[in-house]
Formats: sequence, structure tokens, C-alpha cells
Amino acid sequence: MSQPMIDPFGRTVSYLRVSVTDRCDFRCVYCMAEDMTFLPKREVLSLEELDRLCSAFIEKGVRKLRLTGGEPLVRKNIMSLIRSLSRHIDSGKLEELTITTNGSQLARYATELYECGVRRINVSIDTLDADRFKAITRWGDLGKVMDGIRAATAAGLSVKINMVALKGVNEHEILSMVEWCHANGYDLTLIETMPLGEIDEDRTDQYLPLSMVRAKLAEQLTLEDIPYKTGGPARYVRIAETGGRLGFITPMTHNFCESCNRVRVTCTGMLYMCLGQDDSADLRAPLRASESDEQLHAAIDEAIGRKPKGHDFIIDRRTRQPAVTRHMSVTGG
Ligand code: GTP
Ligand code: 5AD
Ligand code: SF4
Repeated sequence: MSQPMIDPFGRTVSYLRVSVTDRCDFRCVYCMAEDMTFLPKREVLSLEELDRLCSAFIEKGVRKLRLTGGEPLVRKNIMSLIRSLSRHIDSGKLEELTITTNGSQLARYATELYECGVRRINVSIDTLDADRFKAITRWGDLGKVMDGIRAATAAGLSVKINMVALKGVNEHEILSMVEWCHANGYDLTLIETMPLGEIDEDRTDQYLPLSMVRAKLAEQLTLEDIPYKTGGPARYVRIAETGGRLGFITPMTHNFCESCNRVRVTCTGMLYMCLGQDDSADLRAPLRASESDEQLHAAIDEAIGRKPKGHDFIIDRRTRQPAVTRHMSVTGG
């Protein structure tokens, strides 16, 4: 019943990203419009259903499980799901259980996350300037996020900072972000903004190719390619001057789809085989249809058989429409 998930291009799926809620307490300008309509609660899978779904994927070879959102830590009782999923870490079936968070609730949950076997978390911070942070996230408070990161480190969690590179917004801060992250022992990944969902701003104004950022950084720092891999799409360098790691996530300038090992599930149980395509498969119906997982496994196998070769994101002045209509917060990246 639980055959491994190998797609038509021979790629094995071993990384599952689960968006546990589409809600968020921030409204980042590149992610959401300010006025968002979220899903009604009845459409959303229960925590028990999410557990069953994740466990089915683990049966089918998932080794890395990342909870995302929206903001995963704003989901009510989220720790009960994480605690329950930690049994797969204990049994050795799962190598990594982790979250990508905006950090707003971290101070509250850091210790418990560590107790549940989480060892490394990703926190999104696009700027170290409190006013700019407010401008980018609309509703966020940098001080609270900083408290959260400190609590995470104190609890023993390794931290990776995610910074979406935005032209004219935070590009002049990239060097200081590298220095700050590395001085504090955090990895940093820079991310190219991707065209997902209607937002209030113009994406052509925001898009900053990381090839340019990298060339500029190389004028001031020594970048050494390293083979460090996390299972995610970042390609890492070591900065000789700081000794820290810097990753580049470049869906726009360098398509990393050929080594894609991941799929994502939304909080309503829709399986998306590619972040940059609209095709999806409903897993909620087979999940609810029977207590046995047979139909669920069959639906997953059928969907993996349709995993596309890659995305076709483009950002230019002529392409006003986003490549996919759903927002990033639906699938959590
Ligand atoms: P690590 O385990 O630290 O490697 O995490 P990660 O980089 O896989 O996850 P994270 O949630 O921190 O995501 C960082 C960025 O990578 C986000 O902007 C995601 O949207 C993006 N990302 C992750 N997977 C994919 C993918 O399959 N395609 C594209 N285009 N972007 C992705
Ligand atoms: N393009 C690139 N990254 C994005 N994120 C959110 N929206 C976008 C986008 N349009 C990032 C967040 C977070 C991660 C899950 O995805 O900053 O770090
Ligand atoms: Fe929330 Fe993350 Fe989207 Fe910002 S990028 S609005 S923190 S889901």
C-alpha cells in the first residue's frame, strides 16, 4: 500500500510542506493584500485529520516535514499537532520536523518546540529596521520577533533567517543582514520574490534578481560555494569573513525544479505538486471517505504521477497577471 512517491521525471518526493492555516497575523506586502478573506473554519482540516494526512505521507517516504501557513503558530492548539507528530521523530521515520514562522508567537512556543524534537526553524525577517519592518509586514512588530528568536536560541533551536530581497526596499540592507545573522550564529537565505496571488503592489517594482545581489556581495565579501544541503531549494556559500552560511533561493533566475523533492498540502487538504502551478488534488475527500488510508494512498499516488517538470514564473511589465492565482499564504511556499 505504501509505495514510495516517484514522479514521472524520476524525482523522489521526501519533503512535505503543510500549510496548517491560511491565516496570518502579518500582511507582508509581497505575500498578501491588506484586506484578505480567509477560509471559513468548516473547510479546514482538523488537527487530527492533519495528523493522519502527514502520517500517511511519512508512510510513503516523507523524511522532512515542515509546517507553514499563513503563520503556523496562530493555529489554535497547534502544539498538540506538533507534539503528536513528534512520535515519528522518536521512531526514526522522520528525519526533520520543523516550521517556517514569522516569529510573532515564538517566545511562547520555543521551549515546547524543542521538546517536540524540532531542532531548526526558519524565521522570516526582511529588515532590521523597525519602521521598515512595519512597512513591509504592515502589522508586524520587529521587537516581538526578536524576542522570539532569542527565546528560540535559548531553547536550543538553530535559526535560519529568510529574507525576501526587494528592490529599493531592503536591498541596501543585505550586507548588514549577513553580518547580523552571522554574528548571532544564524544561517541566512535570500529569496527572490515570486508572483503568487494578487497583491496591492506592482511586482515588477519589487523584483530583485539574486544574481545581481550575489555579484555585489562578492565585491565586499569572499563567497565560497559549499555542498551544504538541507533538502530545501537554497544553494549555500560560506562567507570567509564571517564564517557563516548564506543561501540563495532563486526560483526566478535559476530554476531549481530539476532537483525538486517536495510537495505541499494546504489546510483544506489540497495537494499541490508544484508551488508554481495551479494543478492540485483533493485529499480531503479520500481522507474523510474511510477510516482506512487506502483511498488516500491511491489519491496521493495518482497526484504524484502528475507532478509537473517545473514552474513557469515570470515577472515583467507585460505580464500583469500573477503566474498562479492563489496567494503564497495558501501553500506556505
Ligand atoms: P530549509 O529546510 O531550511 O532548506 O527550508 P526551505 O528553504 O525549504 O523552506 P522555507 O520555508 O524557509 O522556504 C524558503 C523559501 O523557499 C520560501 O520563499 C519558499 O516559498 C521557497 N520554496 C520552498 N520550496 C519551493 C519550491 O518547491 N519552489 C519554489 N519556487 N520555491 C520554494
Ligand atoms: N515570494 C517569495 N517568497 C515569499 N514568501 C512569502 N511570499 C513570497 C513571495 N511572493 C516567503 C516568506 C517566508 C517564506 C515561507 O516565503 O517571507 O519566509
Ligand atoms: Fe504572513 Fe508569512 Fe505571508 Fe508575511 S509572508 S503575510 S508572515 S504568511
